[in-house]
Amino acid sequence: MSEASSPVTLRRALAGADEYLARRGIERSRFETELIFSQALGLSRIQLYLDLDRPLEPEERGRALELVTRRGKREPLAYVLGEWGFRRLTLKTDARALVPRPETEILVERALALVEELDAPRVLDVGTGSGAIALAIADEHPGARVVALDVSAEALALARENAAACGLEIELRLGDLRGTIEGEFDLVVSNPPYVLPEEIETLEPEVRDWEPREALVGVGVPEALAGRACELLVSGGRLAVELGERQQKTYAARLGDLGYKEVTITPDLTGRERVVEARWP
Ligand SMILES: C[S@@+](CC[C@H](N)C(=O)[O-])C[C@H]1O[C@@H](n2cnc3c(N)ncnc32)[C@H](O)[C@@H]1O
Repeated sequence: MSEASSPVTLRRALAGADEYLARRGIERSRFETELIFSQALGLSRIQLYLDLDRPLEPEERGRALELVTRRGKREPLAYVLGEWGFRRLTLKTDARALVPRPETEILVERALALVEELDAPRVLDVGTGSGAIALAIADEHPGARVVALDVSAEALALARENAAACGLEIELRLGDLRGTIEGEFDLVVSNPPYVLPEEIETLEPEVRDWEPREALVGVGVPEALAGRACELLVSGGRLAVELGERQQKTYAARLGDLGYKEVTITPDLTGRERVVEARWP
């Protein structure tokens, strides 16, 4: 049988997709190809390897091809797969909200440590996006009463779907952190938009061209958060904020000026300063 008329085996399809993604600038092209095929065929990566010589059905090939093409356009892998792991949860991910990042897991770690002594901490997650932080806290501290705020109705709809899929109860609120927010909280936690407008062009296409711009850039939003949080925190309440590496020290100084105490900076797993936290006196 000639090459052209022979059925396309999984092995050949994987090799072709890997080569295509590598040409499109995807660094871990083979790994991503395997994840995409796993998703398209409903098989684990191990099963793919056990089945390498199996011919693909036309509809299987079509499904995989569609996802590979999307990834080739540098759409984030998490959007292409439609789901992404964050702490113990698998969250639905699409263009309505930022893809939850591994470094944000450190913020959740710190947030949980700050409320571990409380049986029923009142927590506000500002800029919840997919709901990642709010849901991870609700999951890992079952007593926590979590309110999740976002200015984007689309992001909030995704967070609602994620809450339902995870079977976790959080209160979702649509609004701007600079507007009215009802309630008193033991912890205000946030991964606010902190990319500077002049940095946008330097970002990877996945981020620059696909993730919601208002989730990335929010001039003055982290600063407004510091001011709003002290009106919402009870005495002794905590603020924990994820920021870019070069913004931490200025932000920590600002918190000190506003009257926050015990201001500390925690690095992420790569040693980059990542989370600023403080206690409201
Ligand atoms: C960096 S994303 C974080 C998403 C999610 N918390 C996470 O860590 O993956 C910032 C989020 O803040 C929201 N946001 C931006 N400006 C806001 C504002 N003024 N008030 C409330 N939310 C805001 C955006 O819509 C976006 O969902």
